[in-house]
Amino acid sequence: MIFLKTDEEIELMRESNRLLGMAYGEVAKAIAPGVTTAQLDKIAHDFICDHGGIPSCLGFEGYPATLCTSVNEQVVHGIPSDKVVLKEGDIISVDGCVSLNGFQADSAYTFPVGEISEETMRLLRTTKECLYLGIEQAVTGHRLGDIGFAVQSHAEKAGYGVVREFVGHGIGREMHEDPEVCNYGRRGNGIVLKSGMTLAIEPMITLGRRNVIIEEDGWTARTADRKPAAHYELSVCVRNGKADILSTFDYIQEVLKDKLI
Ligand code: MF3
Ligand code: CO
Repeated sequence: MIFLKTDEEIELMRESNRLLGMAYGEVAKAIAPGVTTAQLDKIAHDFICDHGGIPSCLGFEGYPATLCTSVNEQVVHGIPSDKVVLKEGDIISVDGCVSLNGFQADSAYTFPVGEISEETMRLLRTTKECLYLGIEQAVTGHRLGDIGFAVQSHAEKAGYGVVREFVGHGIGREMHEDPEVCNYGRRGNGIVLKSGMTLAIEPMITLGRRNVIIEEDGWTARTADRKPAAHYELSVCVRNGKADILSTFDYIQEVLKDKLI
């Protein structure tokens, strides 16, 4: 069942997404060689709680942290740990959710740690482009498959893999609502998008082959070939003519400035 949101509900979702975006700004300030992913998790956890939000990944289906911190070949759901120390040249995908005023926020961002290779930089850039191309399709009258098609064709043109095992989703009072938003698909396929639908669009793109495996911890998904993967996510509201982006990377961008990819 897909829940269309009222304008009032959309503004509440923008608020929860702003808090998540601000927490990511704090995380962005801390990302550097020598920092552990557990330290990043604590920064996000404390910031969200101090501002009246609930870090809603924590405890979700037993997930043990506020953030998912997926490093290099890890695609999604990497568990923060004091044993994972970032080093120059790594990439780290930070994903998390906030609940505020009864509405969920969800977004993700892949950060470079110090200087990264040109090859990996191109992966990050292309994955972010995939996200915005997908969002361009999230308009009234288009179909769900148009989003997947836009993401997939841009990634595959660049020679990258599109992860199939994890997908975007509707979002609202629940973190995961209908519909599933695949990062692959055919133009003109799937349900018709309506104004007021809220979707978390989240391409997960691999430098090498698209296959993933789940690590022993039962959560961490990594590429089978151990080549890097990137993940960017924004929650959006479908509108006539142009999607309304509810999440924000603004606080991250303020921190990254000239290092922006
Ligand atoms: N933020 C993730 C998503 O995009 C959810 C993470 S799963 C959790 O759907 F278990 F970590 F919460
Ligand atoms: Co999501």
